[in-house]
Amino acid sequence: MADTTERVRADPTDTVPENLKARIKASYDAIAPVYNKWTIDHSPVRIEYLDQVLIKLRPKGQAAADKKPLRILELGCGAGRPVTEKLLVELDPVHVTANDISTGQLDMARDALGEHGEKVAPSANSRVDWVEGDMMALDFPENSLDAVVGFYSVIHLPGPEQATLLGRIGKWLKPGTGYFLANFSDRVMPGMVHEKWLKQDEGWMFWSGLGVPQTEAAVAGEGKLKLEVSKLEKDDVDDVDFHWVIARKPE
Ligand SMILES: C[S@@+](CC[C@H](N)C(=O)[O-])C[C@H]1O[C@@H](n2cnc3c(N)ncnc32)[C@H](O)[C@@H]1O
Repeated sequence: MADTTERVRADPTDTVPENLKARIKASYDAIAPVYNKWTIDHSPVRIEYLDQVLIKLRPKGQAAADKKPLRILELGCGAGRPVTEKLLVELDPVHVTANDISTGQLDMARDALGEHGEKVAPSANSRVDWVEGDMMALDFPENSLDAVVGFYSVIHLPGPEQATLLGRIGKWLKPGTGYFLANFSDRVMPGMVHEKWLKQDEGWMFWSGLGVPQTEAAVAGEGKLKLEVSKLEKDDVDDVDFHWVIARKPE
């Protein structure tokens, strides 16, 4: 980890900090280069879970004529590697809506993945729409998405918003075939604030978690999704455990 990092302990909070989303955006704008350099070592676990969903969306050996165009939403896509890039390369033909609240992260993603999509402005044949903003502001038609994925991003929403978002995702996914993949905090954690995550003075950060049983309940309840994988990854990132979920929308 970089010298600029001060790994002071994060503090629990029962209240949602004021201007939460603006503060998270400002922090990721500031820490994007440090975050992306640090996180690249944690890519294998992302890929392990993503591969489990890619195989459902594009079964091995599928004939080119059977490859229907897929519509994917990625929540909190960050700088686009490895996940957005893998979606574009391995699911083709595909359209990815890559959402993130941070301008800095999306700038890095556009730079990194320009060759896979539209670098500056969306066009009719663009394979990626880079959508800046709070994931809670997104909206899609019912039964329109083949998959919704979110890696280490939904955890930045306050717990009740996580459950609300699951309800929306459940509506957006296609019945029978639509997949949801994300990781969550394993702990019941109304809020956890770190004043200096990854960068002195600019790394203020907030995470929240419903805990494993309540996340599972929200996936099945608000989301009306069928859990296929619900697994705890010990020491997923450094010494922090995460709860990984893969779920399908039933017919
Ligand atoms: C820990 S990073 C993960 C980035 C990427 N998914 C990865 O796996 O490396 C969390 C990302 O979620 C974004 N984010 C945080 N809160 C968000 C929100 N409310 N809406 C959209 N994106 C958000 C951040 O800007 C950041 O890029």
